[in-house]
Amino acid sequence: MKRETLRIDGERLMRRLDELARIGAIEGGGCCRLALTDEDRAGRDLVVAWMKALGLEVSVDAIGNIFGLRAGGEDLPPVMTGSHIDTVRTGGRYDGNLGVLAGLEAVRSLNEAGLATRRPLVVAVFTGEEGARFAPDMLGSLVYVGGLPLSEALAAVSIDGKVLGDELRRIGYAGRAAPGVQRPAAYVELHLEQGPVLDAEGIALGAVEDLQGISWQELEISGQSNHAGTTPMRLRHDAGYCAGAVGTFLRRLALEMGGGQVCTVGSITLHPNLINVIAARAKLTADLRNTDEAALQAAERRLATFLEQLAADEGVSIATRRLARFEPVRFDERVVRRIEAVAARLGHACRRMTSGAGHDAQMLARVCPAAMIFTPSVRGISHNPAEHTEPAHLEAGANVLLHTLLELAA
Ligand code: GLV
Ligand code: MN
Ligand code: MN
Repeated sequence: MKRETLRIDGERLMRRLDELARIGAIEGGGCCRLALTDEDRAGRDLVVAWMKALGLEVSVDAIGNIFGLRAGGEDLPPVMTGSHIDTVRTGGRYDGNLGVLAGLEAVRSLNEAGLATRRPLVVAVFTGEEGARFAPDMLGSLVYVGGLPLSEALAAVSIDGKVLGDELRRIGYAGRAAPGVQRPAAYVELHLEQGPVLDAEGIALGAVEDLQGISWQELEISGQSNHAGTTPMRLRHDAGYCAGAVGTFLRRLALEMGGGQVCTVGSITLHPNLINVIAARAKLTADLRNTDEAALQAAERRLATFLEQLAADEGVSIATRRLARFEPVRFDERVVRRIEAVAARLGHACRRMTSGAGHDAQMLARVCPAAMIFTPSVRGISHNPAEHTEPAHLEAGANVLLHTLLELAA
C-alpha cells in the first residue's frame, strides 16, 4: 500500500474508545478513572493488552508511565505520541483516551499495511495527567522530562490521603526504568479541544501553537466555630464566608483583567459543615490560567493581597499551599506547520489555536519538538460525562496524527 493513501479505521477506533469507556463508566456516558485507582489499573491492563497484541514492546517506568515501542528501521530516538487514560471524577470518555487509542490505531494501520518507519514509534500513557487525585497535573510527563524529582512525585498525597508510590505498587505499575532515559525525537498528541472554539466555527481540526500557564493553590482558612443563632455578625470569624469571598473575588478579578484570564474555585470543603455551626475551617482550591505569564503573575499577586486583607478584616488565618505552577508554553513551529500541512493534504479545515487545558505535550515540549492536534468538543463541554466529539472528527484527527507521525519518523 502507498503511504499517502493509508488511513486509520474509524470504526475500530470508536470500538476501542467504547471498550475503554466501560471501565469506570458513570451515568451520562462518562468515566471515573482517577489516577492509580482500581479503575485506572483496569484501564491500564486493557491498554497494555492491546499494545502487546499489536506487537509493541511494552515498558513501564518508575512513575508508572507506560510505553509501547514499535521498532524502526534504524536505532534512532523515537517519535512519540500518546496522552493519558486517567480521568477526573466526572470525566468524559475522550479526554486523554483519544490520544492513546488513536496512537494504537495508527500503529495498527501501519502493521496491517506492512509499512516500516525509519525511526521507532512510541505510544505513551502518562501517569496522573489530570491532577484531580494527585497534584500537580501532568505529573507523569513532568517527572519524565525531569521537571519534578521522582522521589517527590512518589511522595505526593492524594485527596483521599494515599501516598502515590504506595498506590503505584498496589496497582502493579511501579516499573523499574528510570523515567525519561530516552529523549524522543519529537512528540505529537491528539486531544479534544475541551473548549468551544472549533465547534462554534465549524472547523474540523486545530493545530495547537501554544498553551496557557497554570497556577494551582490550595487555601486553608482557619476561623472559629460558633453558634449560628447567637453569634452577632460582628463577632464572627467565619471560614465559610471567607471561602465564598475568595470565589467572588476571583471571578471579578478574571472579568476585570479580561484578555483570557480565567479563575476557578472548583473545590470547597467546610468544617464542621453543619447548618447551625459557623465554619471553623475551609479548604478550597484556586485555579488561575493565562497565556501571558506577566498577567498570570499579576493575578497571583492580586489574590495574595486580597487574602491578606481578608484575613485581617475577618480575624482568620489563611495558609496557602502550591499545588502546581507551569508557565505558558509555545509549541514547536515546525511541528505545528507540519500538522497544518498534513491536515490540508488530507482535506480537513484546520485553524491554529491555543490550548486552555493542560496536556502532557506541554511537558514533552521541554525536551523535544512538540505540538498538538485538536478535535472539536461539541458545545465546548469537557470534564463532564456529556463530553462529545463527532466520530468523523475523531477519525480526521487520528488520520492527521498518523501522517504527522509518519513524516516525523521518516
Ligand atoms: C487538565 O485537564 C487540566 O487542564 O486541568
Ligand atoms: Mn486530557
Ligand atoms: Mn482533563
